Amino acid sequence: MSVLIKNGRVITVDNDTIADIFIEGETVSAIGKNLNVKADKEIDAKGMLVFPGGIDPHVHLSMPFMGTFSSDTYETGTRAALFGGTTTVIDFVLQTQGHSLKDALTDWQSRATGTAVGDYSFHMAVTDFNDNTKAEIQQMVEDEGITSFKTFMAYKGALMVDDRQMVGLMSEVKKQGGMVTAHATNGDLIDYLVAKHRAEGKLSPLYHFLSQPEVTEAEASNRFAQLAGYTGCPAYIVHLTCEGALNAVRDASKRNHNVMAETCIQYLILDASLYENDFEGAKWVMSPPLRLKKDQDSLWNGINQGHLQVVATDHCPFMWEQKLMGKDDFSKIPNGHPAIENRFELLYSEGVAKGKISINKFVEVASTNAAKIFGMFPRKGTISVGSDADIVIFDPNAKHKISAETHHMNVDYSGYEGWEVEGKVKTVLLRGTVAIDGEECKVVKGNGQFIKRKKVTGFI
Ligand code: URP
Ligand code: ZN
Ligand code: ZN
Repeated sequence: MSVLIKNGRVITVDNDTIADIFIEGETVSAIGKNLNVKADKEIDAKGMLVFPGGIDPHVHLSMPFMGTFSSDTYETGTRAALFGGTTTVIDFVLQTQGHSLKDALTDWQSRATGTAVGDYSFHMAVTDFNDNTKAEIQQMVEDEGITSFKTFMAYKGALMVDDRQMVGLMSEVKKQGGMVTAHATNGDLIDYLVAKHRAEGKLSPLYHFLSQPEVTEAEASNRFAQLAGYTGCPAYIVHLTCEGALNAVRDASKRNHNVMAETCIQYLILDASLYENDFEGAKWVMSPPLRLKKDQDSLWNGINQGHLQVVATDHCPFMWEQKLMGKDDFSKIPNGHPAIENRFELLYSEGVAKGKISINKFVEVASTNAAKIFGMFPRKGTISVGSDADIVIFDPNAKHKISAETHHMNVDYSGYEGWEVEGKVKTVLLRGTVAIDGEECKVVKGNGQFIKRKKVTGFI
């Protein structure tokens, strides 16, 4: 099967030009003006923007967490991602403390294999680093194509590792050619504040926010960056939200430490005032919590300065019924919010259309950098000859409103209900096949492929 996309404005990190794209099978075989080729299918992209498929390297699908499971499966989550212009996601396998990495991987594979609609890969979350785990790192990198190892510096008793484990993991991962990533918040300080607020009878969602002040993230980000510098391990901070944590990354870069970072769409455009509406605030109970307006400005600056390389989602949806588990106690509200379908369009609308980032920067942080950092480039993350034909045809003039009534995520509310969005995903190709055509998904469960990743090359 061959496809010719004609006359679109093709945007990559370093290009912005009107061109045709010729696709044979799963990959791009030519790019140029007025290509003189015959294709099985022609798509007229005149007036449209043509982007590389989005990559969201931070999602949680069917994840067991806080006594329940995140509500999107690999089927519903990756399909919703495709509707929103994201063709590849990276999910987190969570080691159960006392068990092996391999056991956890088998468990995650049982939920993902044959189920995903779009392409996916895995990070491995190491929650119990010991001699047995250490021996498995090489196998993950060499055999499984899992080259990034996530740590939690919070959620004590279930997921959190201490600094001794962190240093041990960093040393081994560096040796094997991988990267360590972190949920960088100070778990002990958070636990202290949660206990204090509960003891004082302060139980509404607002106290989730007040239990994780900026210092909890700034301190842990700085500690993580220092340990990465000390061990020389490539490092990446997930879901960075605030000025204090960003300054830790800036300091590390002054010392030539290899620390990269992602923020998420919600931290760029939503703020903590949403916690003021009693239990309604549970929709945005996530960790770290939403921050202040001044932090939004810092994050946009961080993107433009190159300190934040990626905009992800930390997509971790829960039905309202699940959120109600914490109606009398904020500490029992399952943490997370839905955004896998909204990230790409919101980032274009709030970032590019409002003049906060350039269109090339958009491609960089929504797709290319994640592919480079996580060892999928140039197969994923760009439009070039030989790359997978993961392509988004985007109408910059179409305006629409976000609503739970029309979204495709398996969750019964939207954190962005009623938001006006400028620009809309029109057609999405995944490995050369039209996956999304307007309101229709043309590919089915099992279409998504697991993407093995290469060793980490270091700072991009
Ligand atoms: O609130 C969040 N972020 N839920 C998912 C787990 C995590 O910390 O990433
Ligand atoms: Zn996290
Ligand atoms: Zn997460």
